[in-house]
Amino acid sequence: MAIKPVRKAVLPVAGLGTRVLPATKVIPKEMLPVFDRPALHYVIDEARAAGIEHFIFVTGRNKGAIEDYFDIAYELEATLEAKGKTAVLDALRADLPGAGACSFVRQQAPLGLGHAVWCARELVGGEPFAVLLPDMIMRSDPACLAEMTQAYGEVGGNLISVQEVPRAEVSSYGIVDPGARKGALIEMRGMVEKPAVQDAPSNLMISGRYILQPEIFGILSRQTPGAGGEIQLTDAMQTLMGESPFHALPFTGEVFDTGSKTGYLRASAAMALADPEHGAEARAILQALLDASR
Ligand code: UTP
Repeated sequence: MAIKPVRKAVLPVAGLGTRVLPATKVIPKEMLPVFDRPALHYVIDEARAAGIEHFIFVTGRNKGAIEDYFDIAYELEATLEAKGKTAVLDALRADLPGAGACSFVRQQAPLGLGHAVWCARELVGGEPFAVLLPDMIMRSDPACLAEMTQAYGEVGGNLISVQEVPRAEVSSYGIVDPGARKGALIEMRGMVEKPAVQDAPSNLMISGRYILQPEIFGILSRQTPGAGGEIQLTDAMQTLMGESPFHALPFTGEVFDTGSKTGYLRASAAMALADPEHGAEARAILQALLDASR
């Protein structure tokens, strides 16, 4: 059977972001600027580089800024035009997904990542889709999801990106039970959400990028709450694994978890250092701060 291409991406953005309060009292976590642009901006760029045509945002209360960010800002554009700031204007326009390329659905209550993904079921329909966690920024060339869609094009089924983490940190993540290696891919035997260190089947964390078959929605509709009392995507994927081929692709680039205060700081500093225009100045500023704090 022909492998159906991945055209749609689900971006769950309905979480409360309690680890980065107080800012998230009024600003969605996914909109906090990582150096000069929201975390979500990097993730949409990654999805576009992988050929994604439709972006499905699962939102909640206080997330209106996300809709506005991916829309035309008429007054701003008119002002930039009048001032002759064409380079800035062109960059803003190039970043915008086309008309009709974004859909928004409300989760109503943050019952967990699995529930958020399930809320996108009508918009995804009966085709394979990607899920990108917008608080995880992946830096690599080619982009993480592009590498995944290429591997998916060869094996089909379900695919997740994984990365090694220090053993002591496994209880913060979804962890996989790896089976045999097949070239660049690893066959999946199982996965568990936030295991205790002594129970973890490996130190390979699920790093926030997924390609899933639509059968996951039926499983999610029956999924009971798991770790943290939330409906976990990991638990539903564990069930799907028994029904449909499932692989992991080790990611060798850098992962920035912007969902914690220090992770957010690390991501902002890294993006500032990598900025072609401001990188050298950022380095001098960071170095001076470090020297002064000795
Ligand atoms: P996280 O667990 O990192 O987000 O979920 P959170 O719940 O907002 O974080 P804390 O622990 O309170 O700080 C990863 C992604 O899934 C979304 C979040 O918005 C985040 O982008 N999510 C999580 C939902 O959309 N709905 C949920 O019910 C839970």
